[in-house]
Amino acid sequence: MTRYDDLFDETTPTDSVFADKGALDPLAKPDKIIARDEQERQLATILNGVHEGYLPTTVSIYGPPGTGKTTTTRLVCREFADRTEQVAVEYVNLKECRTLFSAANEILLEVSGERKKAYEGLDGVFASLWEALTEYPEYTILLLDEIDQLAQDSNYDPNDFFYRLLRGEGRLKRGISLSTFLISNELLEVDLRLDSRVQSAMSDEQIFFPPYTEQQLAKLTMPRFRRAFRDCEKILSVKVYSHGLRQAAMRWGDARKTLTLFRHAGETANERELDTITRDCIEVNLEQTDKTATLERITQLPLQHFFVLISITAWTNRRTGEIVQPVTMSQVEDSYAKQSLPDEDSIGVRAMRDIVTDLETMGLIETWIDSRGSDGRVKQVETAFDPEWVKDARPQYIEQSEHLEHPSESE
Ligand SMILES: Nc1ncnc2c1ncn2[C@@H]1O[C@H](COP(=O)(O)OP(=O)(O)O)[C@@H](O)[C@H]1O
Ligand SMILES: [Mg+2]
Repeated sequence: MTRYDDLFDETTPTDSVFADKGALDPLAKPDKIIARDEQERQLATILNGVHEGYLPTTVSIYGPPGTGKTTTTRLVCREFADRTEQVAVEYVNLKECRTLFSAANEILLEVSGERKKAYEGLDGVFASLWEALTEYPEYTILLLDEIDQLAQDSNYDPNDFFYRLLRGEGRLKRGISLSTFLISNELLEVDLRLDSRVQSAMSDEQIFFPPYTEQQLAKLTMPRFRRAFRDCEKILSVKVYSHGLRQAAMRWGDARKTLTLFRHAGETANERELDTITRDCIEVNLEQTDKTATLERITQLPLQHFFVLISITAWTNRRTGEIVQPVTMSQVEDSYAKQSLPDEDSIGVRAMRDIVTDLETMGLIETWIDSRGSDGRVKQVETAFDPEWVKDARPQYIEQSEHLEHPSESE
């Protein structure tokens, strides 16, 4: 027997609680939308404007992660376009776009099948975009997902980007009627600090996706659990199931995390060779699920945001080795300065404070002001999660940014 025979033998699922683990994959597209009747109705009403000759320039679709924004919007729009000849829908996810140029290029790619080279700039991209859109049906809907990512480009003003997209000259000249559905976690006006010129070019159509309630999560997960677990009723008792759902609703209201929680809980049951999922299997994975989601967000931060986060978690107790929280802004500035970054990468105190504000908006840190008598007022900072996780995110972050330094040839 080789090492691998042993290894594979040891890890073969015997008596697994799972029948079809794929049913718990949050990336798998559900064939049916559950518990979003109101949002589906709002979307349908807006889309039906086509029959009265009107689609709003923008529709803001917002709400916290895992509340069904992407799934619901895509499905309803696609179903509508399938039934309506004069409507085309294009979907673009901007998650990986770190600059406005790459975002515009991604949109162009979806619409025309090609990208522009960097030297052609935003002007070049937009010119080709309007050109390509002249071939489109009367009503074109552009679904721009995770558009809050655009806040990360510190070199360009997102206001310019939006103004071009909504009111650009090329667009007006050709009389293109384009409706942009903006999908994001926060309302964009607030998040991207859009100015009044852009705001007045946006329609005030908004659809909010609130966190799911316990009942909604139950409706949404039950059919999937029935597929996922072998003999579901036996393996997952009503008591354990309700406990897990209550915790998920209280903490997150997020369908993605809820599916992940129960997947992890099933894996724990397997590891412990249990034939049912116990309350403890849920309990130990609540924090793990939080951690996985937080690490994912940290590893997607822009470089400077990541450095600032490291600076916030750089102070340790000499005796215990534990990370000290909270720290003051001047401690954060000190440890930032100590991170011997090459000169061209180092940013000033002012820019650093903006990043602290960004991190707070993203919900990754909390800050408040303490009055310290004669010392005046001191800004305190702490992470909204276990600060040790920043250390855990490091290897993955470094690996990803190395990857970023070698963009693929197509770009
Ligand atoms: N209303 C729903 N009906 C069925 N599945 C859902 C629903 N909402 C979320 N999901 C599941 O959760 C996953 C995450 O939802 P998603 O639409 O990506 O959320 P958001 O875009 O708000 O972050 C989806 O892939 C889907 O599997
Ligand atoms: Mg989404």
